Amino acid sequence: MLRNKTVVLGITGSIAAYKIANLASMLVKQHADVHVIMTKNATNFIHPITFETLTGNKCLVETFDRNFSFEVEHVSLGEKADVMLIAPASANVIAKLAHGLADDMLTTTALAMTAPILVSPAMNTHMYEKKITQENIVKIRDLGMRVIEPANGYLACGTTGVGKMPEPEVLLDAIYQEILRPKDLVGKRILITAGPTQEAIDPVRYITNHSTGKMGYALARQARYMGADVTLVSGPTNLTPPEGVEYIPVISAKQMYDAVMEKQMQSDAIIMSAAVADYRPVSIAEEKIKKTEGNAGIPLERTDDILGSLGQDKNAFLCGFSMETENMLENSKKKLLKKNLDMIVANNLKTKGAGFGVDTNVVTIISDSPGNDDGVISEELPLLSKEDVAYEILDRIAKKLKSNVDIPK
Ligand code: CTP
Repeated sequence: MLRNKTVVLGITGSIAAYKIANLASMLVKQHADVHVIMTKNATNFIHPITFETLTGNKCLVETFDRNFSFEVEHVSLGEKADVMLIAPASANVIAKLAHGLADDMLTTTALAMTAPILVSPAMNTHMYEKKITQENIVKIRDLGMRVIEPANGYLACGTTGVGKMPEPEVLLDAIYQEILRPKDLVGKRILITAGPTQEAIDPVRYITNHSTGKMGYALARQARYMGADVTLVSGPTNLTPPEGVEYIPVISAKQMYDAVMEKQMQSDAIIMSAAVADYRPVSIAEEKIKKTEGNAGIPLERTDDILGSLGQDKNAFLCGFSMETENMLENSKKKLLKKNLDMIVANNLKTKGAGFGVDTNVVTIISDSPGNDDGVISEELPLLSKEDVAYEILDRIAKKLKSNVDIPK
């Protein structure tokens, strides 16, 4: 995802420095061009050769290296970087950043940096909570740097408290947040549903489907990367909600209906990627149903159609999902028109690379287009990761929101 992006990692002297090797490796796997700059103290915790091996680039420590290349390194890196992350950032380096001090390669590069700078403080709790450190953190925020909140936990000094550098996955997410996508959804509120619903039969059993929530969580994450305010209403899944997203967990179709209805008026766009159960048991047995001889049956009733209800009194851009095993285009167009949607994302469970549980999808985006013969435009996307599919969907929604299609408000 980071092809053609240059990431500068600044590492200061903290035991958490060793974790940046993992981050550097993750960035390289995403095809980023990674340049590491260490303070002298950082080299006491992890050797520069580790980073040189991982990134294929020289790890910079000194400002004046006799073994120089023609470019003035701190200036050239400052110009070509897409983002700089300083992690772990010690109290000392934060103080230098706050006051424009530049006495080593790391702080000199930070001062010459034209790209956004992210700072991940990592230190002993008392140092972190000291008034002067807090003032310096406010100062670097005011100067436009983004500070990644330290986590609470067991610290290397033997105490437990705030000051721990977040895990590399969180730092990677912060980099994505900064540079991955254009910020085309800033100021927009996007409501996304994800996962399956579970419809209880008795205290032990329920009816559900194979949805894992991956597509909906990818939508929530990408919408965040594009700058939207995101609410994620999710049925039961094994996934961790993306950072910075309002998360509303639900279980049944009824709970999802209630949560969506409560939020719909505050939403600019609603994307229903959840696989909502169409039926639920007419009644839920209070006690476990015991087996008897012969066959059994469960009387079922329809659940409320959430999208259908939203379409009847439309307050936001509406995007549905349609999973079919045959006649995908025809059935999906029918759903779009019947539910009064602006867009429906269709996929065929039988297509290789599409469907439940996998990390890829093959979708056709069908958009309402009253001027066209059959009232719609279809656009078939190639096999993509669910993250990229999510971005493509949101990119089209962003354009529609910008051109302000007739969405009653
Ligand atoms: N949906 C909903 N409320 C329901 C059921 C589905 O909002 N009770 C939404 C889904 O989130 C999805 C779209 O409607 O966005 C799917 O449409 P639907 O007609 O329910 O699809 P299927 O159930 O797959 O259709 P069918 O049973 O007709 O094959």
